[in-house]
Amino acid sequence: IQKIGVLTSGGDSPGMNAAIRSVVRTCAYHKINCVGIYRGYQGMIEGDFKPMDARSVNNIINKGGTVLKSARCMDFRTKEGRSAAHKQLKAEGIDAFVVIGGDGSFTGAMVFNQEYDFPVIGIPGTIDNDIFGTTFTLGFDTALNTVVEVIDKIRDTASSHNRLFFVEVMGRDVGHIALNAGVGAGAEEILIPEEDLGLERLVESLKRSKESGKSSSIVIVAEGDKTGKNVFELKEYVEKHLPIYDVRVSVLGHMQRGGSPSCYDRVLASRMGVKAVEALLEGKTSLMVGIQDNQLILTPLEMAIKGHTKIDKELIRVSDIMTT
Ligand code: F6P
Repeated sequence: IQKIGVLTSGGDSPGMNAAIRSVVRTCAYHKINCVGIYRGYQGMIEGDFKPMDARSVNNIINKGGTVLKSARCMDFRTKEGRSAAHKQLKAEGIDAFVVIGGDGSFTGAMVFNQEYDFPVIGIPGTIDNDIFGTTFTLGFDTALNTVVEVIDKIRDTASSHNRLFFVEVMGRDVGHIALNAGVGAGAEEILIPEEDLGLERLVESLKRSKESGKSSSIVIVAEGDKTGKNVFELKEYVEKHLPIYDVRVSVLGHMQRGGSPSCYDRVLASRMGVKAVEALLEGKTSLMVGIQDNQLILTPLEMAIKGHTKIDKELIRVSDIMTT
């Protein structure tokens, strides 16, 4: 392998730049050429490439987003799209790539590898922490810190006005952000897709908490929760069935994806970038770099895509006990 491409794909997450920097510098360390592929697979299809050396990634370790830009690319899902991408990679002399992204990005990489026997390695970059084969994805830790910081602020208003707040957090189909940030911010209730406790139970619990002397409450709602009601409908439901609270809603949205990565995410990104490039140089392919028990591990992309992460039951219990 003489030339490695690097791209970010899917939703951006804090730590992606630190991972790009690590891939580029590991290539430089091993005297391998490195090429930045812009706008994810779309840029691969269109040949949007730029050679990168150790100095092209100065001062980006602390930056949120991705300097390579990102896209959710539909064309790469087609044979024609992948064929165009293959031609572009060959024309540029790129003979392997590292893709930083989530499961959609890994599916693309795996199919491409199967079709063209093209060496690929994935680095999990998403705030959702929903990738099998790693305890942490890049951006999860930063997103948790962001969410906790904001909920602390919302709590000021909740407590000053004796209000109940429903706060919606991201996470697509999983509740890892909701559960961890909920425990970290001391939320009264946490609604996650993995467990549907029912609306009656929610109302009962809020009632109990009011009776026990709490004047304000914060309920964290994962965007994919299974109550069948969104945060605004939850507000209406509680106002109707528990008129003792003044209720407000706050949808945190994309602010959760931005910002300077935490130290944990920067270190993890740096480690994963080195591992990804060195795996390619050792002839490995179609694998994802993950972390387990603070050791870097490699998982077949197929398993990373098909496997499911488990919600932390112990943390659910801790949360229940804390809301006593
Ligand atoms: O996967 C990251 C994520 O932020 C999810 O939490 C959320 O459901 C989704 O992306 C939003 O996607 P988009 O930015 O394309 O609207």
